[in-house]
Amino acid sequence: MHNGIIENFLDLKKKLEAEGHIFASQTDSEVIPHLIEVGLSKGNDFEEAFRYMARQLKGSQAIVALSQSPERVLCGIRLGYAGGLLIANHKGETILGSALPAMVPLFEQDMSSSHEVVFLESEEMVTVTRSNTIYQNLDGHMLGKEPVSVAVSDLSSDKGNYSHFMLKEIMEQPDVVGATFKEREDFYNKTISLSDFQISDADVLNLTRVILVGCGTSLHAAQVGRNWIEEFAGIPASAESASEFRYNHLTVDSKTLVITIGQSGETADTIAAMEHALSKGARLITICNSEGSQATRIAESTLNMQAGLEIGVASTKTFLASLCTVLILAMYLGQIRGALNSLQMGVLIENLSTLPRILGDLLGDTGKYKDLAQIISGYDDLLFLGRGTHVPIAYEGALKLKEISYIHAEGYAAGEMKHGPIALIDSNMATLALAPKYQLYDKMLSNILEVKARDGMVAAILTEGDVELGSRVDVAAYIPPVPESLLPMVLTIPLQLVAYYVALAKGCDVDKPRNLAKSVTVE
Ligand code: F6R
Repeated sequence: MHNGIIENFLDLKKKLEAEGHIFASQTDSEVIPHLIEVGLSKGNDFEEAFRYMARQLKGSQAIVALSQSPERVLCGIRLGYAGGLLIANHKGETILGSALPAMVPLFEQDMSSSHEVVFLESEEMVTVTRSNTIYQNLDGHMLGKEPVSVAVSDLSSDKGNYSHFMLKEIMEQPDVVGATFKEREDFYNKTISLSDFQISDADVLNLTRVILVGCGTSLHAAQVGRNWIEEFAGIPASAESASEFRYNHLTVDSKTLVITIGQSGETADTIAAMEHALSKGARLITICNSEGSQATRIAESTLNMQAGLEIGVASTKTFLASLCTVLILAMYLGQIRGALNSLQMGVLIENLSTLPRILGDLLGDTGKYKDLAQIISGYDDLLFLGRGTHVPIAYEGALKLKEISYIHAEGYAAGEMKHGPIALIDSNMATLALAPKYQLYDKMLSNILEVKARDGMVAAILTEGDVELGSRVDVAAYIPPVPESLLPMVLTIPLQLVAYYVALAKGCDVDKPRNLAKSVTVE
């Protein structure tokens, strides 16, 4: 069993094929048994051969393999943080699963007690034989893993060992992102396949306009997506708030593709916007996380987000799933229209395959955002600043903070600050600047200096190694250097965590903020 993406599988496969291995599929997962076979041919036992295999892989994943020998040894490993792996002992059986909810049916017969489970961290391995279960690291050193006792009430509420659904859902994002890409990217041919997109190539070639529509967090995903549709598919695109769409006198006709984005698929404004789009003869698809919802019934095609159930009222994993799905869609449209050549497509696909690992690594050390959150929680007013595709990410950061911590926060295009909001800056105003190293870095730097010159407190999200800017702002948190197409997703993680920790520090109800509903079914 394999959950995740093997980033270097093409290299591994080439090498294995040169050594005479014959592959039966196009999946990255198939290099796993071949590598175990190589390990065995070196005279290792199954466990050591499994470890040999794991040491060759790059990327975040969980893998479980069963030997065919009469001993039936079962080995499992977690590499990075994209794929979870946990082990439970139940009625004399050892059970491996990807997450606690997967164990619920097995525990159901025994609802009165708590259950012991062991969670594997990155590069930890379990070996199960008929007589025992042992834990080792990648070098084969024994680990003394302590089981965690999980109360049945935790299991039934699906929170696992997290204190809030929001945190759990933030942590699930590497897996969600992996699932979004996995079946849709073809690493061999450097193409995207979208079997759930039902509009013919001829009709895609005829499109003159794309309008992305959503509310709240989904609108922010639409705003980022708008840029990608223009950049990668070369089609004029705009993002519209679903609540305004009907009233904005936009030119919508049969050559317009309307794409709605929604977690619930039940948001009244979004449904009304869809009906309006259909009445104008537009082509209509939806990116949605709820199968069978109204939005999926109205749209011609649905691109499923693959995020799983989201319970926290503040959307987190569905935001990242929306971003990734709309990015894949932009690439797909660009492929049909010839706007992306195979070289550009190859680079984008390779970059995307690294995203689950990058997000997993970031989430492996959440503590680094706590200082920033501590400082921010002392302010009543915040400006979130970004440029280019990071402007909607700034909006999203501000929305997350205000909805769960009740601190007043506004997202702003940094270049617009001098046209008004700069009047607000003084020592009582905090600014959170998105300033990773990329093409608009210098512009962002001048905006940060404008705030500093007026006594404003500046917190910044910077690229690792940017000591120079790190020393000029009041507090900084870092992200790794990543290709530009991944920055909107990577920058989102610190903002979600900062909002979460600020809300915790202020004692707010993180999962059920006041006055908000998970699904807004009224206009
Ligand atoms: C914010 C949030 C809301 C929703 C909005 C749209 O965290 O969750 O802003 O994004 O109500 O909901 P959906 O995506 O279900 O249409």
